[in-house]
Parts: sequence; C-alpha cells; structure tokens
Amino acid sequence: MPATPLGLYLHVPYCARRCGYCAFTTYVVADPADAAAAHARFVDGATAELTAAAAVLDGAPPLTSVFVGGGTPSVLDPALLARLLDAVRERFDVAQDLEVTVEANPGGLDDGGSAEEAVGTWAAAGVTRVSFGLQSAVPRVLDLLDRTHAPEAAGRAVAAAHAAGIAHTSVDLIYGTPGETAADWDASLEAALAAGTDHVSAYALGIEPGTRLAARVRDGSLPAPSGDEAAERYRRADARLEGAGFGWYEVANWARTPGARCRHNLLYWRNEHWWGVGPGAHSHVGGVRWSNVRDPGAWADAATAQVDHVEELEVLDQDAQDLERLLLGIRLAEGLPVDGLAGPAVDRVVADGLATVVAGRLVLTLDGRLLADTVVRALAG
Ligand SMILES: C[S@@+](CC[C@H](N)C(=O)[O-])C[C@H]1O[C@@H](n2cnc3c(N)ncnc32)[C@H](O)[C@@H]1O
Ligand code: SF4
Repeated sequence: MPATPLGLYLHVPYCARRCGYCAFTTYVVADPADAAAAHARFVDGATAELTAAAAVLDGAPPLTSVFVGGGTPSVLDPALLARLLDAVRERFDVAQDLEVTVEANPGGLDDGGSAEEAVGTWAAAGVTRVSFGLQSAVPRVLDLLDRTHAPEAAGRAVAAAHAAGIAHTSVDLIYGTPGETAADWDASLEAALAAGTDHVSAYALGIEPGTRLAARVRDGSLPAPSGDEAAERYRRADARLEGAGFGWYEVANWARTPGARCRHNLLYWRNEHWWGVGPGAHSHVGGVRWSNVRDPGAWADAATAQVDHVEELEVLDQDAQDLERLLLGIRLAEGLPVDGLAGPAVDRVVADGLATVVAGRLVLTLDGRLLADTVVRALAG
C-alpha cells in the first residue's frame, strides 16, 4: 500500500438526458425538485462512503488525484460539488499538486452565463482540470448521438474554465458514428483544437448492449460502424493532433504537454490503486477489485447506514494481476519493460511491425495501437 499511488473516483449517476449510445450507470430525474433531492442524497451517501474509505485506507500515501465522473457531474449544483470536494479534503491527506478533474457536458454549462459561475465555484473548490464531452462538432452527428449542445459550446466552455484559473481542460470526441464522413470527423478535430484545450480523448463509437443505439443497429435502421473506417479515422486523428503539437500517451489520449496528461487515468493504466465512491463505481486496492451496487437509492441508503454495498468483489491472484498489468500497460506510450515478457512473443510483434523496443520497453507502433488486443493475445501466450 504505502508505495503505490492512490486516487479517488467519485461517480455522479445523473444526466440531464440519456444519450442513446451510452451504457454508463446514470439516471435522468426529470422533476427539478426530485432531482435536487436525489443530488443531495447522493452527496450524503458519498460523504459517508468517503468516511469508510478513509478508515480502510489509513496509512496509504496522500491522494494524487480525484476524478469526479459520471454520468454528468456538471448537473450538480456547483455548491454541492464543492461540498463533496471539501468532504474529500477533510478525510484524506492530499498531495500538494493534487489533480482534481470534473467531467462536464458543455451544453449544461452553456445556458445564460451559468458557465462562468459554475467553473468559478469549481476553481475555488480546487478543481484543476475539466473534461468536456463534445463528441462531435457536426449538428447531424450530434443529433444522431442524442446530444443537445451546440457545436460551438466547447469553445465557450473551455474558455470559461481557463478564465476561471482552471489549468487544464480536455475535450472528448467520438468517431465512427453511422453516417459520419471523413470531413465531419476532420471538422470535429478542428473544433477541439480551436477550443484551445490541452488534451483530447478520441473514442471509437462502441455499440453497447441494451442501448437504444444497439437496438437501432439490430433492427437495421442504422448500419453498424465499420472497423476499417474507424481505423482510418483514428489515423486521421493521430496525424492531425500530432501535427498540432499533441503527443499520444495512451491509445485514445493525446496531450499538448506532459503536464496536461490525466494523472488519474494514468493510475488506471499503470494498475495502481483507486477507490471508486458512488453507485456502480469500481475500485482496485491492494490486489482486490470490487464494484458498488448500481441503484443510487440502494447505494445511498447502505452507504449512509455504513453497511455493505459491494455488488461484486474479486481477489486477484498473481496471474490475474500480471494479465491486467499487460492489458492496461501496453496501451501507454511509455510501454512495458521487456524484461518479464516472453522473448519469442516480443520478437513476433516487433517483426509484425506492431511494436518496437525503446530503451528496454515494448511500445506499440501506430499499427499496433489499432491492434492492441492482438498484441496482448500474443504476449499473454
Ligand atoms: C460517460 S461520459 C461522461 C461525461 C459526460 N456525461 C458527457 O457525456 O459528456 C464519458 C465519455 O464516455 C464516452 N462514451 C460513452 N459511451 C460511449 C460509447 N458507447 N462509445 C464510445 N464512447 C463512449 C464519451 O466520449 C463521453 O464523453
Ligand atoms: S454520454 Fe454522458 S451525458 Fe450521455 S448518457 Fe452517458 S454519461 Fe450521460
């Protein structure tokens, strides 16, 4: 425990509207009074889980990162979010340069001047990084993804965050939406760059079971995304972002400077320690992996009463831990130490042009980043 970096993930399970492609643990509470009550109950439950976590983690190193994700944390009243972050600081030692990320939907921050107020409160509460879900800058594509924000919302939201003194921002994009053209994708990349962000995440659209999008693909009203097209979009993204001075540091993530990399997400890929607070949140501490119950009411009641709210728990044996380290670590530009990997498998992926050895570490090539699963299968034997 003492030597391994530790982060906190806080899962806010609410959104203003459900996007048809999304399978995350999140709920829409339409009535404003019900939503306010649900949000307050969530913060009470989270505060109680933080108390329990701090007791279990006694003796652990100071937190290096806090990530408030969702769902859409920006649906919370900013003062409530600040209360949640205060609750963290009251219970945990934190590193002096603690990274605090909040995920936000740019649309929710874009109505009638509230963006400045929200990001101002976040900045005062210690938020150092905001990750905005733009997804696309093309109205037709946004529409298909059920996104309600205007394409230009990201620029305004990023500018408001930086003006409030928040050092880093990120823009999330999705490629491979049915009907999206190469020109559409180029326009989205340009919009992310024009927004002035120092970090971009680009994800291939996943067709998640149980979503409205999956039903539309199944009934034939939308075509399934093409793998070849997604690969071409990925290459375009990498070329454009590298051309604009961004460097990839994880398969789906590019940053303008090393300081703009998301330290919290690096913790996941390096298989370090994190405690996930909230309904459906996942944790990984000391070789144990667990997840909380997904229902926000059941979770909040159990957390507040300080009774068990774990849904699944797995103690990882050495083989499972080694496989996780491989699966996650190979996605990073820093790669994995060649020592400890099977020599013939390393030779094979290098000969196939999927990876190179740099200073004793195995690093994916651009082709390898598109075939990371193949590389893992080869290395895992
Ligand atoms: C769970 S959302 C949280 C942020 C915020 N609610 C939003 O949507 O902007 C985090 C990111 O996950 C990505 N995501 C969610 N579902 C996805 C899917 N089916 N395929 C690809 N990316 C997805 C989106 O890019 C989104 O920005
Ligand atoms: S993508 Fe974001 S806004 Fe849309 S439903 Fe999922 S968590 Fe909510």
